[in-house]
Amino acid sequence: MSFNSKLALSLIVSLIAMTVVIVENYINDNLPEYFSLDLYGILIVNFVSISLILPFIIEFYLKFRKFSFKQKNSEIENLKANEKYRKEFIGNVSHELKTPIFNIQGYVLTLLDGGINDPEININYLERAEKNINRMITIVEDLDMISKIESGILNLNLETFDIIELVNEVFEMLHLKSQEKFIDFVLIKDKIILNVVADREKITQILVNLLTNSIRYGKQNGITKVRIRDINNKALIDVADNGIGIAKDDLPRIFERFYRVDKSRSQKSGGTGLGLSIVKHIIEAHQEKIFVDSELKIGTVFTFSLKKA
Ligand SMILES: Nc1ncnc2c1ncn2[C@@H]1O[C@H](COP(=O)(O)OP(=O)(O)OP(=O)(O)O)[C@@H](O)[C@H]1O
Ligand SMILES: [Mg+2]
Repeated sequence: MSFNSKLALSLIVSLIAMTVVIVENYINDNLPEYFSLDLYGILIVNFVSISLILPFIIEFYLKFRKFSFKQKNSEIENLKANEKYRKEFIGNVSHELKTPIFNIQGYVLTLLDGGINDPEININYLERAEKNINRMITIVEDLDMISKIESGILNLNLETFDIIELVNEVFEMLHLKSQEKFIDFVLIKDKIILNVVADREKITQILVNLLTNSIRYGKQNGITKVRIRDINNKALIDVADNGIGIAKDDLPRIFERFYRVDKSRSQKSGGTGLGLSIVKHIIEAHQEKIFVDSELKIGTVFTFSLKKA
């Protein structure tokens, strides 16, 4: 209750009390002579004051009721949204795990049915089963990472390191993968060394996902350019490809977990749609920002910031 309404309320209570006392004394004939002369005047003043204050009190009461009603409504809406989100999430997880589980089951059953003695398929099926197990492990690890970041369990291990050196390291790490599609990695920088303060391991994970995406959704003989800029107290890192691009309608959703623009295409290449969600979580844990810009068939640019050392 605000100070004004408290004041109005105590005023109205004292006016009512005063009126009651005067009327009571008047009935019992207890009032001094001079008082009874003005009694009608006092009663009228009290009455007018009450009538003036009362609308404010009523208005305040109605506003308060409306506010608490609205608050309750938004709480219910939040609960409903959380429930929907939870259901969708469980549905997505089981859907993603179903494919590798059924694949493994198929390979194992074929092996048990005699395939184990067939040198043409036994090793091949075991290798395929292993690939599916690895896929399941990746999904579970990604989910573990997301839930740890969301519940605040995962602490950042901040250190000072050279972001240019790290990008070169990740280029080397992904060299073979990029050459499968003859995609060239290029680094554009305006400094030789640019030290940042961040969790090196997690920034590595961000670069791996963005660069893997640039290969996965890039075109044969394409090019991926990483540009590092030194702007005020920030280092800005762009990862730009000339691949398939993302439609404007899909852009706002690509950071959602399990969101894939083209489910069939990215599933074939092993994507689960968790990578960018992890990237965004990590960036936000650093209190930094990530942006995306893209044009269909032209390419995509992701830009994120880091704090300079
Ligand atoms: N560079 C890109 N070019 C075009 N589309 C992209 C690019 N990066 C991401 N996308 C789209 O955004 C979706 C989400 O990307 P994200 O990295 O979260 O998942 P993923 O690569 O499919 O799987 P994961 O990273 O979990 O292995 C992708 O499925 C793809 O449709
Ligand atoms: Mg990815």
